[in-house]
Amino acid sequence: MTGRIARRRLLAAAAVGGGALTVGGWAMAGRSLTPGQPGLLLGSRTALPQPYAVPLPVPQVLAPTHSGSTADVYEITQQTARLRILPGLETTAWTYGGTFPGPTLVSRSGRRTVVRHRNELPHPTVVHLHGGHTPHGSDGYPTALILPRGGTASAADGMPNMPGMSEAADPRGDATAERTYTYPMHQRAATLWYHDHRMGFTGANVWHGLAGFHLVHDDEEQALPLPRGEQDIPLMITDRAFAADGSFRYPALDAAQHTPGVTAPYMDGVLGDVILVNGAPWPTLTTQRLRYRLRLLNASNARRYRLALDPPPPGGGGLVQIGSDGGLLERPLAHDTLDIAPAERFDVVVDFSRYRPGTRVHLVNGLGSGSTAHVMRFDLAAARPPADDSRIPDRLSAIPAPAPQRASVTRTFHFQRRASTGWTINGSPYEPGRPLATVRLGTTERWRFVTDFHHPVHLHLDHFQVAARNGRSPGPHDAGWKDTVDLRPAESMEIVTRFTDYPGRFMLHCHNLEHEDMAMMADFVAE
Ligand code: C2O
Ligand code: CU
Ligand code: CU
Repeated sequence: MTGRIARRRLLAAAAVGGGALTVGGWAMAGRSLTPGQPGLLLGSRTALPQPYAVPLPVPQVLAPTHSGSTADVYEITQQTARLRILPGLETTAWTYGGTFPGPTLVSRSGRRTVVRHRNELPHPTVVHLHGGHTPHGSDGYPTALILPRGGTASAADGMPNMPGMSEAADPRGDATAERTYTYPMHQRAATLWYHDHRMGFTGANVWHGLAGFHLVHDDEEQALPLPRGEQDIPLMITDRAFAADGSFRYPALDAAQHTPGVTAPYMDGVLGDVILVNGAPWPTLTTQRLRYRLRLLNASNARRYRLALDPPPPGGGGLVQIGSDGGLLERPLAHDTLDIAPAERFDVVVDFSRYRPGTRVHLVNGLGSGSTAHVMRFDLAAARPPADDSRIPDRLSAIPAPAPQRASVTRTFHFQRRASTGWTINGSPYEPGRPLATVRLGTTERWRFVTDFHHPVHLHLDHFQVAARNGRSPGPHDAGWKDTVDLRPAESMEIVTRFTDYPGRFMLHCHNLEHEDMAMMADFVAE
């Protein structure tokens, strides 16, 4: 398909969506099957699997190929793999090391982590460590490709055909068949994740399996009596749709990956009807009546969830949040429900000893309907649990109050759909090499995000704090150090961040991956 036709489709989509608000999008969302959802449901063409029929998989922790005194070196081969996700069918996935999710990397704060990626997939990729405080050269700039083995760089690889993207800005030539990413890990203990970030094709690549956890530990966290070991479990929540033969369905405009984006009806976002946790549909976890630390990650392309325990424990407040995107909160926060937008992480402790033996506790999604209202189940043991020496301390960490008054600059970013160009930030579709802001390292800035639709806004390089939502106090799910925030239609948010180190080009973008691919992204330069 040519870029011209793709552009016409974008225009047509914009015209259909326009009218209700200043910009379109909202009207389309109003017609989608699940109200309040940023996207359109793509149904599976195969019978949906039985819920609660498979055990929760926990991704393997990757062993380093080499450990020195200050660094650990890992190797990952990106490859297609035939996975068993649905009963009796095989799903061809694009994976990190043959599994979905990819292997979990575990780093120690302050110890350099070096990850060498080799690309044996049929198309170029880019790796980004989401939440990593990473120098530009290893941050996964969207055109810094890893070419397929034996592949050659073509114009289309580096610079997909997209409205508004100027060829002149293409930093082509920075493409290799293997790429080594170096993460200094000068950052707090946190639940990070790594995923594809190729310009224009991140949505398709992540949907097909290119995502994994990367956990960081530090002394502060280690000294706390939080649940650990078998009682510390990462949960990657995604929604997917499947074709009759078991393959992933995704409405890409161009499966050969020359023209980015999805077909017009899915421009708001792609929603699937099968919920996978760690790659398994509606799994169950046999659970002791003990405290568990659950590291919740929404790795869906577009879907938001309102997670809750069903039944709630007596007295409520069953989801005790101890951390957010950027690590531990100052104090634990008890929630009945958690709203989680794409790419956000909530680190929670659930005390299953509050339930009677043998209870089946469902993790449900208040924003879903039918199959998507269910996520997974915890089957509590009937036997007496072993002694639990874990605890949730009243004080977890020290976090300075956000200080917007210290900001030297205030900038405003409008996330909106434009009839002519699609998803934009401040009216412009993404153009590599054309920064929307230049920030001085060592200074504090206040950034305002204003939306027309659901936009999970993500900032690379440094974590930030939410200072205000819609001119008032931050919401119940905005606490702690964040790198992604859940903005709903016609909202505004004020965040404060201090840019610390690492000069170069970084990204600000919407983490609805269909919006991101269709150009809701911007460079900013740190110097
Ligand atoms: Cu998780 Cu720039 O992305
Ligand atoms: Cu990121
Ligand atoms: Cu968006």
